[in-house]
Amino acid sequence: MTRIDLLLEEMTLQEKIGQMTMSAAGFAVTGPVLAGDATEDIRAGLVGSLLNIYGAEPTHRIQRVALEQSRLGIPLFFGFDIIHGHRTIFPIPLAEAATFQPDLWERTAREAAIEAAQDGVHLTFAPMLDVTRDPRWGRMAEGPGEDPFLASVYAAAKVRGFQGSDLATTDHIAATAKHFVAYGAPTGGIDYMSADISDRSLHEVYLPPFETAVGSGVAAIMPAFHDIAGIPMTANEPLLKNWLRRHLGFSGVLISDYNAVAELIEHGVAGDVVEAAILALRAGIDIEMISTIYRRGLPEALDRALIGLEEIDASVRRILRLKEALGLFDAPFGRGGAIDAESEHAADRRRLARDVATRSIVLLSNNGLLPLSDPRRVAVVGPLANERVEMRGSWPAAGDPRDPVTLFEGLSSALPQADVVHAAGVSIEDGDWSRVDGALDICRSADVIVLCVGEAALMSGEAASRASLDLPGRQKEFAEAVLALGKPVVAVLSSGRPLTVSWLIDRAHATLATWFLGNEAGNALGDIVTGRASPSGRLPVSWPRSLGQVPIYYAQRPSGRPATQPGRYASKYIDLPTTPLFPFGYGLSYGRFVYSDLTIGNARVGRNGNIEIMVSVANEGDATAEETVFLFIRDVVASVARPRMELKGFSKIELPPGGRGILALVLPVSALQFPGRDFNPVLEPGAFEVLVGPCADRQKLVSANVTVSDDPVQGRGP
Ligand code: BGC
Repeated sequence: MTRIDLLLEEMTLQEKIGQMTMSAAGFAVTGPVLAGDATEDIRAGLVGSLLNIYGAEPTHRIQRVALEQSRLGIPLFFGFDIIHGHRTIFPIPLAEAATFQPDLWERTAREAAIEAAQDGVHLTFAPMLDVTRDPRWGRMAEGPGEDPFLASVYAAAKVRGFQGSDLATTDHIAATAKHFVAYGAPTGGIDYMSADISDRSLHEVYLPPFETAVGSGVAAIMPAFHDIAGIPMTANEPLLKNWLRRHLGFSGVLISDYNAVAELIEHGVAGDVVEAAILALRAGIDIEMISTIYRRGLPEALDRALIGLEEIDASVRRILRLKEALGLFDAPFGRGGAIDAESEHAADRRRLARDVATRSIVLLSNNGLLPLSDPRRVAVVGPLANERVEMRGSWPAAGDPRDPVTLFEGLSSALPQADVVHAAGVSIEDGDWSRVDGALDICRSADVIVLCVGEAALMSGEAASRASLDLPGRQKEFAEAVLALGKPVVAVLSSGRPLTVSWLIDRAHATLATWFLGNEAGNALGDIVTGRASPSGRLPVSWPRSLGQVPIYYAQRPSGRPATQPGRYASKYIDLPTTPLFPFGYGLSYGRFVYSDLTIGNARVGRNGNIEIMVSVANEGDATAEETVFLFIRDVVASVARPRMELKGFSKIELPPGGRGILALVLPVSALQFPGRDFNPVLEPGAFEVLVGPCADRQKLVSANVTVSDDPVQGRGP
């Protein structure tokens, strides 16, 4: 018998349900404190894990209670939201996605895992894999953007980074893929609202990143708060049991979202705690976060024979297996040790934070003002210019609020020869106008103005849906007043989503989307503005012209009446173009890239073959720069209408001025599969268009055709 079998034999029903219950440690400003009754519950075996606790001392102290004072001495595990760094705060996920660099996604997760493990944490509630096409939804900030392929590559990198190849090594932590599934498509962009989506979008857009996470060995999955077409995800047997467990073979742990089991009553699918407990258990939720419905409802459900003990045992077994995989039975104090803040490794981590922040910045427009050439006096104005805490974004984890470098500080140290001055002018949200004159005065005497506007960090993230995507408060008026001075203006946008500020982008001499860049925000901005680095961030989401265009994404299906068709009866708005202001993948650099000579190794390829693609990229600009090269395909005729373009790959190339490189991309034909009419994957032979270039704008892509033959052997067939 294994250790887990033995434990299961010994456990009372209460102790089993205890393992299925995750309670919280509350947070005080000064650090974690244990929630009132958690200690007693742990002693009684009523709690198996905690969230919101970190630090070697408190985690070890409470672990000791579980080990030494509970009847069976089963170790706890501690979970925490380490979304974009633990102590070192990296850019928010949407920003990091803009780097299009899986190696960086993996490294930041790895570093976060090291710091979290030093702080006694075993599991993170990340990565968030919610594809989203609606910037009203504030949680767009927490995920990798609009594209399922991008989200899948991101999923694999994050799981690798957090978990490594062996969870028991005490500098790794378990990852939780969330929020399963289609949480990013709530009605009206309102957080927690129902998603009424087709089975096709489910299979093509929302499920694939989770499939990749499972394939990468993710330890846990968190179902989302919302319902899909009337079935709350916390009780969604078809998706949790049939798809995740049976179809994909996911054998890890399902952890409910915060209080979500209790919320089944609010959703109107359970009449009382017993029904809620049955629904969640039936769907396969192993751990209930925060609420205590299992504790209150499962014993009665069992008594009335509405559930079987084997269903509870199956969950407990999965939870104990996770604890075993984390090495908790053998080394319950393995995580939680000295913080390596002063080591060489920690210095490397700060360099990584700066590099990833620099690479997250997207240059949206530039009339030649950037990089700045030796300015004498620079006015850094706007409510985000000297904000420290805001730079951390919506999940600052255990970051020290004093750590972030503000935009003003970063620019001051990047421009030591210049006189760099600062005034906020207005606040992010309130209407106080009293400081505007002073700010305009310092602008008047400057030769360049850096105008730092945008959202507060908490205007994106959870429960932060917006019905306007313009600048909040009186920032627009302030920006207009600054622009009216007629000086060169660099607009710097801090936000957790695209903002619909064409009025600003049109008039500023350059615009940078800087999202929320974390601790190294100011230094990263300095690197870009001075030209020490050429901007290499690219948009992981389409940037709308106007709120009326959302949801907006590039991978739309062709209409029978395309927008390009002349006359009235075309698929378009009568008052606005249908195209975004900036397409997915867009971003300028200080170079200028030109694509040519797209060639395909063999114009006919068998179903087991590879499509070999070569493209020539030249930098005709006058600065060394890095280009992100995107590979899209279009399935010309299929049994189900396919998107006008689908991302299938991306790669980077750095070139000096006048440099030219040949990029070779290999696309396995199997990647051309799609969910057929019955949603099973099919590969349909026929013509495909291969499109390569800088972003999802057809005009800017070079293309070639390839025919996939039914013959398995490359190049042969009818
Ligand atoms: C969020 C999750 C998070 C959990 C625990 C919830 O409100 O939806 O993303 O992991 O809280 O903090």
